[in-house]
Amino acid sequence: MFATWKELQAACESCRRCALCETRHNVVVGVGNPRAQVMFIGEGPGENEDLQGEPFVGRAGKLLDKMLAAVDLDRNTNIYIANTVKCRPPQNRDPKPEEQACCMEWLEAQIALIQPEIIVCLGRIAAAQMIKPDIKITREHGQWFEKNGRLWMPMLHPAALLRDPRKKPEAFEDFLRLRDKLEELNQEA
Ligand code: URA
Repeated sequence: MFATWKELQAACESCRRCALCETRHNVVVGVGNPRAQVMFIGEGPGENEDLQGEPFVGRAGKLLDKMLAAVDLDRNTNIYIANTVKCRPPQNRDPKPEEQACCMEWLEAQIALIQPEIIVCLGRIAAAQMIKPDIKITREHGQWFEKNGRLWMPMLHPAALLRDPRKKPEAFEDFLRLRDKLEELNQEA
């Protein structure tokens, strides 16, 4: 594990553990507040993210930012956003299990440094890897799971909402549940 964020960032940026390093432009480590109470985990960088070196900067990211803003969350101040894999899978295919396995150490190190109280997994791939392998995202999104002393919530992936905008209201409900939980935790504190 890594003692400092700087060490983790440098090691992650020079990673060559899997074949995704051959085709990447940038390692997309993550963005946000390293002391955030809430961490978001997506699947993996797409084309824009690979080119800019930041997660969720394309159309799906713009939608994510809007939903975050509606509940007073912001990638540059009070959350941290990362992905299950830090390098873009070619043609945006799903990351392979071995790529996810190689990359897990980085994500675990990020979680260990941030120590978020809440982790939101965006989409089935991240939720299956981090919450439970047989997750049914259409049925179980918005539910709270307790694991390793933290609260976890699977949410619909913003790219899925762009493909099917009828799902936006139910996705937004999950953001409201997240806001309520934060209010509850911060009242207790
Ligand atoms: N989709 C993801 O899952 N992650 C990103 O960073 C961008 C799009």
